[in-house]
Amino acid sequence: MKDILTAPFVKEMCDTTANMYRLGWDERNGGNISYLLEEAEVAEYLDLNHVLRTIPTGFEAKPLIGKYFIVTGTGKYFKNVQSDPAANLGIIRIAEDGTTADLLWGYSDGGKFTSELPAHLMSHMARLSVDPENRVVMHSHPTHTLAMNYVHPLDEKELTHTLWEMCTECIVVFPDGVGVLPWMLCGTNSIGEATAEKMKTYRLVIWGMHGIYGAGRTMDETFGLIETVEKAAQIYMLTCNRPRINTIRDDQLQEIAEAFGVAYRKDFLRLE
Ligand code: 13P
Ligand code: ZN
Repeated sequence: MKDILTAPFVKEMCDTTANMYRLGWDERNGGNISYLLEEAEVAEYLDLNHVLRTIPTGFEAKPLIGKYFIVTGTGKYFKNVQSDPAANLGIIRIAEDGTTADLLWGYSDGGKFTSELPAHLMSHMARLSVDPENRVVMHSHPTHTLAMNYVHPLDEKELTHTLWEMCTECIVVFPDGVGVLPWMLCGTNSIGEATAEKMKTYRLVIWGMHGIYGAGRTMDETFGLIETVEKAAQIYMLTCNRPRINTIRDDQLQEIAEAFGVAYRKDFLRLE
């Protein structure tokens, strides 16, 4: 059996957490990632019958029974994942009862998966119901996105419209816009359910005054979604207290969305 530390999915988790930390999105233990793995890719590295521990999830995830995920650990710092993946990451399989997770590797210091597992697994279920190829859910606290939450209305239509105006290609990257939740207590099944409801129609969900969730088919797609929102939010924060003398008009946003052939939320534009 191959060494798990050489697995491409472990490397992707290490590289991505390191990049997120480098960009200042994930202070302390802020942020978490879950990545759906194929059974065959896990079997190359681990004995699937060797369960280290069984950990309750606190909710039911029947559609995910038998599915494998690599997940960041609760309380773990993204800055440390690369130097000690086995302590900071874990590979779990949702057990037959749908309410516990079999730990197959990781959390080597006795830890467990992120406290945001409800939001992650419920979001996986929601995304898989509309896109069977979705594999990644990512949560983060990007600085400018968070700053924008304090000075811009937390309204999906208005926030999406502002972000689309901030960089020409935003509407191409996230034509489905950004879903928004008000401030809610994190780490609960309730915020998980609310996030998953938004994830049925959005790949990006802002948690008011907390951070952002992204979902995608690959690590790069998901990272790129959050990165693009964060770039747009940075432009907004650099310009919002100065007179705006130029902007991308709505007919121009429509022009680029149509040129790239993306299915954008037409009702988020203010066209005649
Ligand atoms: P965890 O350390 O449990 O992953 O929580 C971090 C976080 O960002 C909570 O929203
Ligand atoms: Zn958080």
